[in-house]
Amino acid sequence: MIKPIGWTDDAVVLLDQRLLPGREVYLELRTVDEVAAAIRDLVVRGAPAIGVTAALALAMEADQLPDDPDEFLRGLAEAGDRLTAARPTAVNLSWAVGRIRRLAARTIADGVERVRERLREESRLMYHQDIEINRALGRHGAALVPVAGRVLTHCNAGALATAGYGTALGVVRAAFEGGNAVSVLADETRPFWQGARLTAWEMQHDGIPCTVITDSMAGHLMQRGDIDVVIVGADRIAANGDVANKIGTYSVAVLAREHGIPFYVAAPTSTIDLQVASGAEIPIEQRNGDEVVIVNHQRIAPAGVGAAYPAFDVTPSRLVTAIITEHGVVRAPFEEGLAGVCLAGASAE
Ligand code: MRU
Repeated sequence: MIKPIGWTDDAVVLLDQRLLPGREVYLELRTVDEVAAAIRDLVVRGAPAIGVTAALALAMEADQLPDDPDEFLRGLAEAGDRLTAARPTAVNLSWAVGRIRRLAARTIADGVERVRERLREESRLMYHQDIEINRALGRHGAALVPVAGRVLTHCNAGALATAGYGTALGVVRAAFEGGNAVSVLADETRPFWQGARLTAWEMQHDGIPCTVITDSMAGHLMQRGDIDVVIVGADRIAANGDVANKIGTYSVAVLAREHGIPFYVAAPTSTIDLQVASGAEIPIEQRNGDEVVIVNHQRIAPAGVGAAYPAFDVTPSRLVTAIITEHGVVRAPFEEGLAGVCLAGASAE
């Protein structure tokens, strides 16, 4: 299985996704600041993957924090803040940091040494749970994929974006493993090329047929009847079902509606943020415009021209056919269904 995240006794180990598909290089990171920088620089990316990575980083940091209980909890909180500041849109990051901090606060009376052990166990449990969650989500979603369905996906919501197996690509994997001759059309996903580089690499790795298209080709292919279903991941889902995901997702959803093609979002309940009423409240990460105009160290637009890079967009829930979670498939009206699966998710924690 593809392993984007791992650990040693004193390090968090990350597959450097900036170098894929050309080179498979693993980095060993030994401080929270190194991990925060790796998250910011997209060494590791994808909402569930950065959450699990942050949990492992906090458990690692706990070994370096003072033995005094108050100072320990304060140090853990500060380290958590540095990690969550790395990327603002994916709620899995603050969800994971919150889970680790709550466990430490709840059990601090047992002594700092015992808390350190617990955080190590908990972060590794979160890693394994993420894979199990994706498998469950994949099973629910596979039933929605037509036989020999041609699936359009945007960005990379695969094994690389999680601890393993993937969300949107987890649904594809489950369908494929169940004997469905499914195939994938991967939007290249400018400007970081998650589709062309990462989804294509993952699908090739598992022998699942995959064709890369430029982001602008989706409408044409839908018009010709070459796409049966759209499945994407999510970085944050608001209580009303609005979905923040990689920039370009909204355009795909509008096209899918125009052509009567189902538009599914596959995400674990840790991506649902019931504190946020609608997509309008979701913070959208703004990245450096240079990442748009400099490709492979080569400037492709004239020096001095402006370049914008909102890294995510919001798809209104009215365009979403259903949201596939580990606790089942939620359809409109979303409020009630999302609250229900979140409750099931919280008790499983
Ligand atoms: O900027 P990225 O690569 O972290 O964006 C990732 C996405 O938008 C994914 O679709 C999302 O995080 C879901 S990953 C299972």
